[in-house]
Amino acid sequence: MPPLLSPIFLALATATLAQTQATQPRDISTLPTLLQSISATVFPPLKAIAVSIWSNPELGLSEHHAHDLIVDHFTTQLADPSLWTVTPHAFGLPTAFKLESSFRPPAVPPTAAIPTIGFLAEYDALVGIGHACGHNHIALNGLAAASMTRAALTSLGIAARVVVIGTPDEENMAGKHTLLQAGAFDGIDVWFEAHPTSANAVQPMNARVNAIASFASASHTQTVRTAYEALVAVRDLTTSGLPGTSSSAVPVEEVGMFECNVVQGQISLGINGSSVAAVQATVSGILDSTYPGVTFTVAQDTIEGGVNLTAFGPVPLVLTIETFRALSAQPGVSFFLPGNTTHTELDIIWDIRSRYTQDLNTVLNAVTAIVDDKTTSITTDTIYPALEVTPFLPGVLIDLLKTAPYGSQTDWAVSTFAPASTDASWLQGAVVDPTTKALVGADRVVFHPNFNICQAGEPCAFNHEPPFRDVAGTDFSYTRTEVIARSLAHIAVELLNDPAMMANATAILGS
Ligand SMILES: *[C@@H]1O[C@H](CO)[C@@H](O)[C@H](O)[C@H]1NC(C)=O
Ligand SMILES: *[C@@H]1O[C@H](CO)[C@@H](O)[C@H](O)[C@H]1NC(C)=O
Ligand SMILES: *[C@@H]1O[C@H](CO)[C@@H](O)[C@H](O)[C@H]1NC(C)=O
Ligand SMILES: *[C@@H]1O[C@H](CO)[C@@H](O)[C@H](O)[C@H]1NC(C)=O
Repeated sequence: MPPLLSPIFLALATATLAQTQATQPRDISTLPTLLQSISATVFPPLKAIAVSIWSNPELGLSEHHAHDLIVDHFTTQLADPSLWTVTPHAFGLPTAFKLESSFRPPAVPPTAAIPTIGFLAEYDALVGIGHACGHNHIALNGLAAASMTRAALTSLGIAARVVVIGTPDEENMAGKHTLLQAGAFDGIDVWFEAHPTSANAVQPMNARVNAIASFASASHTQTVRTAYEALVAVRDLTTSGLPGTSSSAVPVEEVGMFECNVVQGQISLGINGSSVAAVQATVSGILDSTYPGVTFTVAQDTIEGGVNLTAFGPVPLVLTIETFRALSAQPGVSFFLPGNTTHTELDIIWDIRSRYTQDLNTVLNAVTAIVDDKTTSITTDTIYPALEVTPFLPGVLIDLLKTAPYGSQTDWAVSTFAPASTDASWLQGAVVDPTTKALVGADRVVFHPNFNICQAGEPCAFNHEPPFRDVAGTDFSYTRTEVIARSLAHIAVELLNDPAMMANATAILGS
């Protein structure tokens, strides 16, 4: 018979065990093969969810189908439905959710602190062009990486907690800003997310704000003229050099069919008081190699009278702006929007970006100052701060992806180029030295690799361009997400298993 232990002795004994558990990493040399076998079970049903999300695109804050599918999977579809604690409609947002699951070997008492890691899932789409940003893959990556991590903890006997936050509306209103204020990311130091795009890189993301300007006057033609004068002025400001680092101010014409955050593929400008031949000659004289991929048509507008110039391709608005500049001084020439000449109010959104958060207001103020006397109102939306690359984890991922179980990928690198923006920067709360621009601190580690889902030799596109929707729906793209999710699960297990590695990953938080 074993000796009876006093309660105090028992508490001491379990505390010692817990400490041993926390400080003695397990042997996880089998992790690559273990995760491959876990993925074979875990990934296919989650891929089916991502495919359904892609087929049923929903705009930010309306992602009910995505929310319900995911919540149903983790509530009722798993072999062990009690594995995850599921909070639907979390943090006051109807389409946010929280998944949480802990593993404690019998030796670890319920009160002992265990390490935690968080995964982010996004699932919102773009107006008119569906999942042309590939957020179906962000959802899949977050759910798959978390599920694989959780299963590996049980197999390896590692005490830890895994959390997933489903974050609505990444594109427009910075859903993660709302969630941050509601406390969704409290108490967890390390968050993983992966974004599909057209190249592999661990890289920063730029700061962003939209300046939404309204132009109005008594007549349609005067409103169009004033708006285009503002477009010319901001374009000149942009070409002469905006303040800050890698700053840009890209205009979007809001005439119903276009929305901010959607790369416009077609823009029409009507020209009255000129001829088809004259407009044709003017546009041909402007269009050169600085407009890669841009084409145009010029035709008589049979409804309005006048000439319909339509430009196609990436940033076609620039061609109509330059055509306006070339023709606007000619006497008797006026401008209209083909299709509806009753609008006397027109909105232009300048999507303003800069590499560093600290410069964003300066750029915004420069744009605002130059259009101020032409607008009837100018407002801004929620700022997206810049996301900075935190040290340590990028090197861990790049080395891991070179290994055979993760596809022997050798084209990954840490890049300083910021290709886009993300609201995940709100969790990170990066602090950058105003002079050196060095990262000096952060609220949380947000590890956000951008991974390539384009197949070599196949046509590709960049996020928010309409063809990227098709790229994000290919079988190939899902195989890429399986690999990145498995690699993030691998690193998550390593971090949860080894306090020294966790300390390295989070060193920036202490500074
Ligand atoms: C174009 O000019 C003609 C002649 O002045 C006028 O009748 C017509 O309404 C104008 N169309 C537009 C769209 O401004
Ligand atoms: C102007 O031309 C474009 C390109 O041909 C066409 O798509 C559009 O419908 C035209 N607009 C009107 C009002 O005819
Ligand atoms: C033209 O625009 C006005 C103002 O936005 C709108 O009320 C009207 O329905 C539009 N007409 C057509 C034919 O699209
Ligand atoms: C943590 O970082 C130190 C210093 O770079 C390094 O020597 C050590 O191997 C790292 N430990 C782990 C577990 O990553």
